[in-house]
Amino acid sequence: MEVVTSKEQLRSWLDKHPHAKKVLAPTMGALHRGHTSLFDLAREKAGDDVAMASIFVNPTQFGPNEDFGSYPRQLEADLELCEKHGIDLVFAPPAGEVYAENASISIHEKSLSTGLCGGKRPGHFDGVCTVVAKLFHLFRADAAVFGEKDFQQLAVIRRMVRDLDFEVEIVPGPTVREEDGLAMSSRNAYLSEAEREQAPILFQTLTDVAKGISSGRLSSPEEAVEHLRQKIESAPLARIDYAEIVNSDTLEPLDKFGIGEPRLLVAVFFGKTRLIDNVGLPSS
Ligand code: PAF
Repeated sequence: MEVVTSKEQLRSWLDKHPHAKKVLAPTMGALHRGHTSLFDLAREKAGDDVAMASIFVNPTQFGPNEDFGSYPRQLEADLELCEKHGIDLVFAPPAGEVYAENASISIHEKSLSTGLCGGKRPGHFDGVCTVVAKLFHLFRADAAVFGEKDFQQLAVIRRMVRDLDFEVEIVPGPTVREEDGLAMSSRNAYLSEAEREQAPILFQTLTDVAKGISSGRLSSPEEAVEHLRQKIESAPLARIDYAEIVNSDTLEPLDKFGIGEPRLLVAVFFGKTRLIDNVGLPSS
């Protein structure tokens, strides 16, 4: 495995592999099993060609009161995991390498990113789109893997690829969970013991709602979301930030089942820590 820290080193490595299929797994580090499953997917997709990862805590996707400064950074341990999971090339640039000091162009998504997490984190998805577009160029990626855990991010990136004609195949990776169902996230480390104990209520409730819809017990999105609210708020430390059933492609709220592919997305605060999760729902 090769580790490069500058754009110039990255370019010269790629120049030596002009014909290889290149599959990228972009990350912000603090790697866990959710990320390594994406590395495995990138490795599988690249076959005998090149599986690549980036480790970069992207400042432009954090709001002024968010956790950019305290976001966990553990490069040594991260590099070990990359190597163990078959990554050939890692780009781990220092903060100043990625953006020009007077950078004045960014990508603005104006539809899918207005609600859900985007509604709560203004500018977040513009920062994500901008850095991901830069990474696609820098790595000359043919394909890139993104976790379904960040479902809105996946949908926004698919839209960016469509609207800006990137020739990059987007490969979704299923959410990886702890044994009790809690979705893997770097932010789980912020939970207190008591919060961690209650956090599995998220996925238990999502599963329960999906079953309720399949069985006909919950017959409209409104009823399903109300059921979810009651169940999640029965956990004393949980506070719902949003809960919505949307069309998987457009992320527009659905007011009935039977049209498009519905997806239920939630964000819940446990203390100061905000956890997100989502599930696909039966379409009728
Ligand atoms: O999902 C993430 O970790 C980040 O949003 C990404 C895609 C690496 C862009 O910084």
